[in-house]
This record gives sequence, C-alpha cells and structure tokens, in this order.
Amino acid sequence: MRPDFDRIARPYRWLEYLSFGPMLERCRFYRLPELTDARRALVLGDGDGRFLVRLLKSNPQLSADAVDLSPTMLRLLSNRVALAGVLDRVTLYCVDAREFILPGSYDLVVTHFFLDCLTMEDLHALAGRIRGHLTPGARWVVSEFAIPSGVASLPARFIVSTLYAAFALLTGLETRRLPDYPAALRSAGLLLLGRHRWLGGLLVSEIWKLEATNSAPASSHP
Ligand SMILES: C[S@@+](CC[C@H](N)C(=O)[O-])C[C@H]1O[C@@H](n2cnc3c(N)ncnc32)[C@H](O)[C@@H]1O
Repeated sequence: MRPDFDRIARPYRWLEYLSFGPMLERCRFYRLPELTDARRALVLGDGDGRFLVRLLKSNPQLSADAVDLSPTMLRLLSNRVALAGVLDRVTLYCVDAREFILPGSYDLVVTHFFLDCLTMEDLHALAGRIRGHLTPGARWVVSEFAIPSGVASLPARFIVSTLYAAFALLTGLETRRLPDYPAALRSAGLLLLGRHRWLGGLLVSEIWKLEATNSAPASSHP
C-alpha cells in the first residue's frame, strides 16, 4: 500500500517545528554550500519544497526533477517554487518514486527524510535504478534519522519508533524501522564522503559520491 501524505501536507511544516524546532531544516540545508556546482538534480520526496527553493536560488545553473507521491505536497512545492520565480527550472512528477521512469541523467540526487519511508528491498531497487542515471562523480545528499551507539541510543529508539507510529496512523506508512540505506547506496557504487550529526546522532546529513572510475555497482543485492 502507498502512504498518503496528503493528509498531513499542510500542517507538516508546523508539526515539524513543534517537534524538532529548526533542527530538521538545519540538517536539510547543511550541504547547500557544497552543491553550487550541480547542474541536474533529482529530488525525491521533498515535501513542501523548502529545500528545493533554497537549492535553486543558491544555484542559478541548476534544473531539477522533483518527484513526490502526494499531490498536495507537490502543489505546495510548486507554489513555493513559483513564488520564488524559479518554477521554469523544475519538472514535477506526481508518482511513486519506486515506479518513476527516470527521464535523464543527474549529477545530484537529494533525499531528505525520504529513504526512511522505504523498505530495504525498495531501496536496493531504487538505488540500483538511479545508479544507471548518474553522471561520473555524481553526488547523493541524504538527511535521515539514525540510532547512535551508546547511551543516546535509548532516547533515539524511542523517538524514532514514536515517529513511525505517528506516520503509520496519519499516512498509513507501512515501514516500521529505519532501513540500512547506506548498504543500498554502497551496493549501487556510492562512497560516503562526509557525515554530520545533530542531537547526539539522532539526525545525520550525509554526502555520497559515485566515483568517476567506478562504472559498475560495487556489488549486487541478492
Ligand atoms: C517524511 S516526508 C519528508 C518530506 C521532506 N523531504 C522533509 O525533509 O521533511 C516524506 C515525503 O516523501 C513523499 N513520499 C513518501 N513515499 C514516497 C514514494 N514512495 N514515492 C514518492 N514520494 C514519496 C511524501 O509524500 C513526503 O512528501
């Protein structure tokens, strides 16, 4: 079954501020200064478009394909992008990312708090498919929740399972645990370039890169 984020699209931003204050935005925007040389971006599940507007404004050479399953999220994104005067550089796709037929090649992929909506099987399939559309040296930016090691793991586990329970109730999301997305990205031939943590490791921003010389996936998923 597909999750229905339409139900929470409008209050999403305020629910986020109420639960995490500015921290998710800090995490989402953290890599922007590193992305000013990107030209073609694939942005999956950006929600209401707060990141995409920043990306397009900070990088006038960039055009983007924005994919989201929720028509309401995509409408909010489109309004926000139009208001910023950069809609002509965005193509919108209201489709399940797992079935999206990639129309071109990309030097940047962005997934903020999106990979956690997918199962490992979905992730391996998606990363493998996207891999075939990456230009040499392409980067993939990830924002995600994570479970740190040590004493911080207990509150982190509680917060993450509460979030999954809330999303299950509000959107019908069936995923119940954080997937091991690094394994899927590594299988697709990407290497982790950098990781930054906030809130004791509960939030991470990562940047991954496809090695220019790496023309085939590092290993295949069974
Ligand atoms: C948890 S929200 C994250 C929104 C935003 N990226 C952020 O940083 O808060 C997940 C977003 O991904 C979209 N989404 C979830 N599953 C999807 C799928 N299978 N295909 C496309 N979009 C999906 C939802 O509609 C929503 O906009």
